[in-house]
Amino acid sequence: TTSPIRDQLQRPIRDLRISVTDRCNFRCTYCMPKELFGDDYPFMPKHELLTFEEMSRVARLFASLGVKKIRLTGGEPLLRRDLPELVEKLLQIDGIEDMGLTTNGLLLKQYAQSLYDKGLRRVNVSLDALDPELFGHMNGRGIHPEVILDNIDFAHKIGFKIKVNMVVQKGMNDHEILPMAKYFKDKGITLCFIEFMDVGNDNEWSFQRVVTKKETYERLSAIYDLEPLEEHYFGEVAKRYRYKGTNAEVGFITSVSESFCSTCTRARLSSDGKFYTCLFAAQGFDLRDMIRSGATDEELLQAIASVWEKRSDRYSDERTEQTARNRKKKNMSYMGG
Ligand code: GTP
Ligand code: 5AD
Ligand code: SF4
Ligand code: SF4
Repeated sequence: TTSPIRDQLQRPIRDLRISVTDRCNFRCTYCMPKELFGDDYPFMPKHELLTFEEMSRVARLFASLGVKKIRLTGGEPLLRRDLPELVEKLLQIDGIEDMGLTTNGLLLKQYAQSLYDKGLRRVNVSLDALDPELFGHMNGRGIHPEVILDNIDFAHKIGFKIKVNMVVQKGMNDHEILPMAKYFKDKGITLCFIEFMDVGNDNEWSFQRVVTKKETYERLSAIYDLEPLEEHYFGEVAKRYRYKGTNAEVGFITSVSESFCSTCTRARLSSDGKFYTCLFAAQGFDLRDMIRSGATDEELLQAIASVWEKRSDRYSDERTEQTARNRKKKNMSYMGG
């Protein structure tokens, strides 16, 4: 293995978030609004996607530069055929200590057991509301929350560690903060409140629509006693609290009100093999092209290391209404959350 590398702000590389497909079976209003992602939307043809062999090769190289944690995302990762086989392959890589999957949960019942059998232990499920009408509207497909809740229970019973992600938008689902908190507290499942971000170019983001951690925390602490918890690892994304006297936790992902760029150790690999050094990057480095034109491991390693060593991204530290509006960004369904 090679020695660990650091970027321009002295941040090591620790996580690799791999988007395995740009497709999704939801049309969340803030991510893939159905008016823009219609039946004729040009998703990537299969030959443009990295194969499992290509992904494993890239992941192995990233691991030799310091990556210890892999997250599979999308789009909806469970739409990628034979995903459990990818899990198995990636978990065999030396240095990979942790793997998670971020999913909307719709296909979880179908795949949970085989994913578990291949070694996956952590799943983050997105769920934005318990109210059927509201959730159906937000997911753009009229899917009922019961389906997702049932799948969460199913995966939980198998033995998965589950975290639920709720993207909170003012005037949309902020009245669901307390019902969601109560539901998951009683289940003993961690709920993470995510501040609505200006990812992509299609979600009509503005500061006015963000519900900050402070606001959410105040609403919760009017009812519950919360105590802060220590970081699990350097640069943990969520700030975590425990409901006093229980084992149940809540988290906050404060990318707008308290950005966490200074400890950002995350690299992203899009489904077509581009390497991005920030969720808000306008451009990625084309690893697929290098791979498919016969680059050696050594050449790929050099390229990856030099992209990381030049990295100085800190978008969320610098965000203004201006950058949110004017900067061209990639869609999250393509780059991966
Ligand atoms: P674990 O801590 O491993 O459970 O995962 P996670 O919370 O980092 O991942 P998840 O996919 O559940 O993401 C939750 C939210 O955090 C999503 O809205 C992501 O877009 C956001 N997020 C994750 N990493 C970053 C990051 O580096 N920058 C920003 N701005 N947001 C991030
Ligand atoms: N702001 C915050 N979180 C978002 N996600 C998708 N789009 C946004 C956004 N604009 C969340 C999804 C999923 C995770 C990967 O990112 O709901 O939980
Ligand atoms: Fe919704 Fe996630 Fe699909 Fe985007 S990728 S539409 S956030 S389920
Ligand atoms: Fe990392 Fe970019 Fe997110 Fe900042 S905005 S935490 S640099 S991915």
